[in-house]
Amino acid sequence: MEGELLLLSSMIFLLPVVCGCPERCRCHSPSNFVDCSRQGLAEVPSDLPPQTLTLHLQDNQIRQLPASAFKSVPQLTTLNLYNNSLSNLTSGVFHGLQHLRVLNLTQNSLHSLESRLFHSLPQLRELDLSSNNISHLPTSLGEPWENLTVFAIQQNQLQQLDRALLESMPRVRHLFLKDNLWKCNCHLLSLKLWLETFIYKGGITDSIICASPDTWKGKDLLKIPHELYQPCPFPSPDLQSSQVQQLGAAHGAVPRPPESHSSGERDHWGCEIKPKPRPANLRHAVATIVIAGVVCGIVCLMMLAAAIYGCTYAAITAQYHGGRLAQINKPAKTEGKELFDSSTA
Ligand SMILES: *[C@@H]1O[C@H](CO)[C@@H](O)[C@H](O)[C@H]1NC(C)=O
Ligand SMILES: *[C@@H]1O[C@H](CO)[C@@H](O)[C@H](O)[C@H]1NC(C)=O
Ligand SMILES: *[C@@H]1O[C@H](CO)[C@@H](O)[C@H](O)[C@H]1NC(C)=O
Ligand SMILES: *[C@@H]1O[C@H](CO)[C@@H](O)[C@H](O)[C@H]1NC(C)=O
Ligand SMILES: *[C@@H]1O[C@H](CO)[C@@H](O)[C@H](O)[C@H]1NC(C)=O
Repeated sequence: MEGELLLLSSMIFLLPVVCGCPERCRCHSPSNFVDCSRQGLAEVPSDLPPQTLTLHLQDNQIRQLPASAFKSVPQLTTLNLYNNSLSNLTSGVFHGLQHLRVLNLTQNSLHSLESRLFHSLPQLRELDLSSNNISHLPTSLGEPWENLTVFAIQQNQLQQLDRALLESMPRVRHLFLKDNLWKCNCHLLSLKLWLETFIYKGGITDSIICASPDTWKGKDLLKIPHELYQPCPFPSPDLQSSQVQQLGAAHGAVPRPPESHSSGERDHWGCEIKPKPRPANLRHAVATIVIAGVVCGIVCLMMLAAAIYGCTYAAITAQYHGGRLAQINKPAKTEGKELFDSSTA
């Protein structure tokens, strides 16, 4: 009787340790797979088995994750947070997940991501951020990302993507970029050039369809000839507008189209509308030609006048000299005559 009681109590005591499965989840021990999907969870269960390799948390209502939310499952290789209500992620939320290979954050409400958010995930191979509300990505999300091969950011609100971010993923082979608000101006030109090389090297990507400006709306970024873009005059839009203003003030020659006064479209005209100093240059050229012509004409007239004057002067001088010679010769003759006369007299 006592032995049975001891066995029963030890079984009750050991049960949670052996199974170690959170209340609303299903655990598959041999594969260390924990499935907590579709349970209406508002937060990550606290009592996850420490040896968990795959954790499914999709189709729940998780709104926020605390810092080091997964520190109890350091062996995790796959984490699926698809279809939750995450609107922001605190830095350090994935801290300690040294072995994580797949992170799925599809279909949440993320607006932006902190730089180095995925900093502590050196082994990451697949990162899915599709179907969120991300409008801006930092130039670096985590380094080194030597092993990242899949990067998905389709169905967000991105207008541009810094090439430096893609350059931090040297092994990326699949890029999903479609259904964003791509603004096909000079800032997207370097992405286009990067993608051309990426595809040439065998990379796979979907299409980037321009959402603005109106000229390129609905067009595929990769099919617009890059000759139609001016290179960006300055590296950053803020720097650009301020410097252009300074330049404009200094030269007084850079014309500003009227729409440049509406905020938000400020970096618009500096890029895809070809800068207009060309007509100014043309005007300068015409003015130069006119001035040159006038100067040439004056010089020609002066030369003509000089030639006429020279000729006239020469003619007058010749005439004058001729007169004097005649005068000199006459008295000599008369003198000779006189002499002759006197001698005869
Ligand atoms: C997202 O999760 C909710 C439950 O939280 C579920 O009702 C809904 O069907 C899921 N949506 C998709 C597209 O799977
Ligand atoms: C994250 O979002 C929650 C609401 O979902 C909000 O309460 C919290 O302040 C936000 N945190 C940051 C850092 O923005
Ligand atoms: C993330 O989950 C969605 C929905 O289950 C799926 O379509 C997508 O392929 C997953 N992404 C990755 C990288 O596994
Ligand atoms: C990339 O993957 C290989 C093979 O799994 C691994 O040896 C290497 O450490 C990984 N790189 C990093 C930066 O973790
Ligand atoms: C996210 O964007 C969609 C449309 O793109 C919008 O309907 C939804 O309200 C946005 N969600 C949040 C939380 O801003």
